[in-house]
Amino acid sequence: MSNSQTREMSAILHAKGLGKQVISGERRLDILSSLDLEVFPGESVAILGSSGAGKSTLLGLLAGLDIPTSGELDLFGQSLKDLDEDGRAGLRAGRVGFVFQNFQLLPTLTALENVLLPLELLPGSDHQIRGREWLTRVGLGERMNHLPKQLSGGEQQRVAVARAFVTAPELVFADEPTGNLDRGTGGKVIDLLFELNREAGTTLVLVTHDHHLARRCDRCLKLDAGHLAVLHRDEVEA
Ligand SMILES: Nc1ncnc2c1ncn2[C@@H]1O[C@H](COP(=O)(O)OP(=O)(O)O)[C@@H](O)[C@H]1O
Ligand SMILES: [Mg+2]
Repeated sequence: MSNSQTREMSAILHAKGLGKQVISGERRLDILSSLDLEVFPGESVAILGSSGAGKSTLLGLLAGLDIPTSGELDLFGQSLKDLDEDGRAGLRAGRVGFVFQNFQLLPTLTALENVLLPLELLPGSDHQIRGREWLTRVGLGERMNHLPKQLSGGEQQRVAVARAFVTAPELVFADEPTGNLDRGTGGKVIDLLFELNREAGTTLVLVTHDHHLARRCDRCLKLDAGHLAVLHRDEVEA
């Protein structure tokens, strides 16, 4: 078997000719066109691109939250084409985590309750223990029963990181995870993400404007005019 075949078989995520068009008023907008991407277990991939380039749209498609206009996507070796919304959610359950720029915690739930949410659909009687362990792990052992509004931005994002990792997912998507944080606070969140990526072998796909963050990833790609191009390390300025 050739090397490329071996790699293809082991890709955790494989996008082939992915396209996304939307109708905006009278106009047809091609956000993504014929986009190819393979992501392999344990690696960290940064996707850079200017505002409006389609980065969030791409993450939504890769995670099966949104449906492409053309092309195909395999996640964990399964074609998303064959799955409806429930099927895609079932495939993600426990295996995919998310971290968003604006944290997206539920405002009426405590930090602990937010972290417990992704475990709700999964079997097991140790959820409370796992939730507490994860909040302790991200440095919020003393803030378990706080509501999001009682936490700082950095603390809220650490709750979101705990929520993303509590199921021991194979793949974590992060959409500008430091976008709403100051540099120091953002740096701590990023240290945490990479520490967890190393320890648990979690695959990371992250979208960012932040070149510091991108340089820490194994690979950098740039989304431009609907396509992904490889960025070499020296093209990602410090
Ligand atoms: N459902 C939609 N309808 C119309 N335009 C959209 C829709 N979704 C995204 N867009 C447009 O597509 C472009 C890419 O959006 P987005 O993926 O959010 O970019 P990024 O995350 O790189 O800033 C933007 O110009 C945005 O306004
Ligand atoms: Mg975006």
